[in-house]
Amino acid sequence: MGRLEGKVAVITGGNSGIGLATAKRFVAEGAEIFITGRRQEELDRAVEAIGPGVTAVQGDVSHLDDLERLFETVRAKSGRIDILFANAGLGNLASLGAIDEASFDLTFDVNVKGTLFTVQKALPLMQAGGSIILTGSTTGSTGTPAFSVYSATKAAIRNFARSWALDLKGTGIRVNVLSPGATETPGLKGLANVGEEDALLEGFASQIPLGRIGHPEETAAVALFLASDESSFMTGSEVFADGGAAQV
Ligand SMILES: NC(=O)c1ccc[n+]([C@@H]2O[C@H](COP(=O)([O-])OP(=O)(O)OC[C@H]3O[C@@H](n4cnc5c(N)ncnc54)[C@H](OP(=O)(O)O)[C@@H]3O)[C@@H](O)[C@H]2O)c1
Repeated sequence: MGRLEGKVAVITGGNSGIGLATAKRFVAEGAEIFITGRRQEELDRAVEAIGPGVTAVQGDVSHLDDLERLFETVRAKSGRIDILFANAGLGNLASLGAIDEASFDLTFDVNVKGTLFTVQKALPLMQAGGSIILTGSTTGSTGTPAFSVYSATKAAIRNFARSWALDLKGTGIRVNVLSPGATETPGLKGLANVGEEDALLEGFASQIPLGRIGHPEETAAVALFLASDESSFMTGSEVFADGGAAQV
């Protein structure tokens, strides 16, 4: 019997990278899942790769109408949410002096506003025993060159979990942050100039105590722990899957 048998999970940004690996793992563990993303083609590919047990709902987490449509679909089909993995996120490299307003707005809209309203609009469908997983990053607690805007969004996520654990007191709903370190995904590779992806990954790996970057399946395994009742006494916490990068 799977560790998520009978549970209903929503994974934002479930068509790529960490979200897709987690979607596959949750279904393998018996959950019925809903995934979102802006790109319909990638969602179609993900549904095919995941197999039965998944419903894809196209949408942008920074658009409140899209979130309402997502949760209305979940309500109509499953009636409740046991696990919410607010994973959708993005960032781009720009040093202080070269940060433009449009990329600041986009990064905060998706990572901070998107996470906030994803959780807030999901809450009416959640009850005692529910688990909310926010996606942080090692960059939320360390300095990273040319990555301050993204890093600041992830520092905000860390405080969301601390404060929401208090707002949720008495509900039996838990909220924790899962913070990956450098993990091999299309999103991470997309930070590099074309042709320089390997050099970027090697640069990250050289700074990690375990000597390599992570695989999305390793982050998914931690998401599974936070989603399952194995973490029933954890709320307001941050759990790192980072090869030690932010721990030393
Ligand atoms: N990989 C790493 O090294 C690393 C490290 C620390 C933290 N993280 C965090 O982990 C999460 C997943 O990243 P990843 O590396 O797996 O990146 P990825 O492969 O680029 O996946 C990002 C996912 O988010 C979705 N997404 C982006 N903007 C969205 C929006 N506005 N509305 C809905 N969905 C949106 C993307 O789908 P669409 O493009 O189709 O919308 C995609 O499914 C992010 O929060 C990221 O910040 C990653």
